[in-house]
Amino acid sequence: MELLNAGYEVVVVDNLYNSSEEALKRVEQITGKTVKFYEADVLDREALEKIFDAEDIDSVINFAGLKAVGESVQKPLEYYHNNITGTLILCDVMRNHGVKNIIFSSSATVYGDPAFIPITEECPKGQITNPYGQTKGMLEQILTDFHVADPEWNVVLLRYFNPIGENPNGIPNNLMPYITQVAVGKLKELGVFGNDYDTPDGTGVRDYIHVVDLAKGHVKALKKIEENPGLAIYNLGTGMGCSVLDIVKNFEAATGVKIPYVIKPRRAGDIATCYCDASKAEKVLGWKAENGIREMCEDSWRWQSNNPQGYEE
Ligand code: UFG
Repeated sequence: MELLNAGYEVVVVDNLYNSSEEALKRVEQITGKTVKFYEADVLDREALEKIFDAEDIDSVINFAGLKAVGESVQKPLEYYHNNITGTLILCDVMRNHGVKNIIFSSSATVYGDPAFIPITEECPKGQITNPYGQTKGMLEQILTDFHVADPEWNVVLLRYFNPIGENPNGIPNNLMPYITQVAVGKLKELGVFGNDYDTPDGTGVRDYIHVVDLAKGHVKALKKIEENPGLAIYNLGTGMGCSVLDIVKNFEAATGVKIPYVIKPRRAGDIATCYCDASKAEKVLGWKAENGIREMCEDSWRWQSNNPQGYEE
């Protein structure tokens, strides 16, 4: 939607494994513009070749990938195959068509348990604890190597912190969709995973970012590609740390809905604190998150209460 608003022509390729065409219809309704859509898998080389033959593509934003941390531990083969092989095929097809601009959805997970806080882009990559996160770390390296081998490749690695505003299938793993489903009565209560971390209230601290801000960061990155930046890495976060209980309180204040919760044991693989120094993206891209936790709570609730069954209705 932000790309359309900025005047770009957009071609979407999605296998709809974890998404819905309904979302695209709504984007068209809201913007009054059309989106070219192909239902295809990035693992399907032939399909990709056809799309690149048919369309005049300048740059690719690669969001394709499986993203559930817990599931990736159970299904490493699927995760490595989808995320890594899929991206290799995509890049090979890009190369065949002379397209050498790619923006990649990476993750703060590459910092592991961060060496320092707030996390700058110079923070060393850390020990990654699950196959999902490994695919992000490996793909960062793979794309970096493409740029080294052929400096004409512009590779922008965007390290997302905690996006708010995605619609998950099934029981949510992530905090905000879990809270909104408790609020709407689909789930009974929130489990807070640990209150004995070394944080102000003992619960985990994260850098939550509104999806609209995240999307606008991609538009700025795409604009920057026109200057041939080569290889570039940006954190996309607000730079503000929020605890689990901060989120609960803000959600209750923003919506007037009470969220019952119980303290549970720590979740395996979780870290205490993760928030970024967002100044590089501001300085270089002219991008800064505009929405705070209050807006994220309000907008999540508006979407969930208008779509209690998600996009499935
Ligand atoms: N949490 C709960 N209860 C829940 C869900 C989450 O207390 O039901 C807590 C977690 O313990 C954590 C915080 O809420 O402290 C945020 O948890 P999320 O699962 O929403 O997000 P994570 O920070 O664990 O994971 C996110 C992305 C991953 C990415 C990771 C590291 O979802 O894709 O950040 O960057 F790998």
